[in-house]
Amino acid sequence: MMEDIENLKASILGEIQKANDLKSLDDIRVAVFGKKGEITERMKMLGQMEPEKRIEAAKELNLIKTSIEEELQKRKAVLEDEALNARLKSEKIDVTLPCRPETQGRIHPVSKIEEEVAAIFGELGFEVATGPDIEDQFHNFNALNMPLNHPARQMQDTFYIAHDKDAPFEMENAYVVRTHTSGMQIRTMEKQQPPIRIIAPGRTYRSDMDATHTPMFHQVEGLVIDKTTTLAHLKGCLYDFIKAFFELDEIPVRYRPSYFPFTEPSAEMDIGCLKTKDEIKVGAGNDWLEVLGCGMVHPNVLRAGGIDPDEYQGFAFGLGIDRLAMLKYGIPDLRTFFESDIRWMKNYGFVPLDFSSMTGGLSNTGGEAK
Ligand code: DAH
Repeated sequence: MMEDIENLKASILGEIQKANDLKSLDDIRVAVFGKKGEITERMKMLGQMEPEKRIEAAKELNLIKTSIEEELQKRKAVLEDEALNARLKSEKIDVTLPCRPETQGRIHPVSKIEEEVAAIFGELGFEVATGPDIEDQFHNFNALNMPLNHPARQMQDTFYIAHDKDAPFEMENAYVVRTHTSGMQIRTMEKQQPPIRIIAPGRTYRSDMDATHTPMFHQVEGLVIDKTTTLAHLKGCLYDFIKAFFELDEIPVRYRPSYFPFTEPSAEMDIGCLKTKDEIKVGAGNDWLEVLGCGMVHPNVLRAGGIDPDEYQGFAFGLGIDRLAMLKYGIPDLRTFFESDIRWMKNYGFVPLDFSSMTGGLSNTGGEAK
């Protein structure tokens, strides 16, 4: 009996050492300790033994049981380690590999500028708001202090959309494709109480077409409303923005008085530049270039948005993204932006992984694309 059990132990331990994976190790465990396992069977046999022999045999059997269990544990740990190492090796990613040269896609300059503008204003605590391209006249005009027949409506060559395509066209009820992003001022006020600090980038539409105008173009609207927001905040904010945008430490800036129905007072912001025959250089020189419209939000606009003008005030601004893209990246004709010419995209587009941030670089033209 003794010898027999010693042999059994030796053979089981041998098998454990030979087990090459967790599955075969578990098979051994079942064969030894399972319901009909070799040790289990022997445990059962103890009952038929004479008392003195039984004590001796039980002791022996328990010792063997313990050492087999320990051996199983040890082998299991080794096999688990090996399995993990093999997996780590097979799943290893070489992060030092360069970007695959077959990356063909490019980010359109308009998207790039939108990203840059959002990165800058994001840093200043603004949120991005979005709204519909097809707009009602309340949001596009009326609420912006431009009631029907207001002369300022003629400033914009509006595309109207019939309210009901089967009924005769009614000017009063027609929808429009938004002529500017300014309607987002109202949509934001309707949703949110001050303090408000948003930018709203998006597509806008006007019936116009030449080298610097396309029927569909892009704007970014800005709106800040709080109890003590002043013209000084507007100037500081836009000055910080324009410097960050053109990635320059200094840019000459001037504000010209202007008129917009939804702001009072209103202004246009010009930046200093040098205009030559075929280039505009921002930052130096004796010329000026208009970049955006702005002003203090008109009390009627606050009222239309459900905000009490006796308690709150704020500023707004609107800028043309396409124009900024032409300027910043030296693209001469706006119409080419929307021709979907893959060669144009290869030349003017941006590598998708070079995303814009204030800390990591805004325009990031160091990649493959340029
Ligand atoms: N909505 C104007 C446009 O389309 C731009 C604009 C001017 C927006 C002044 C503003 C602003 O918010 O304050 O030409």
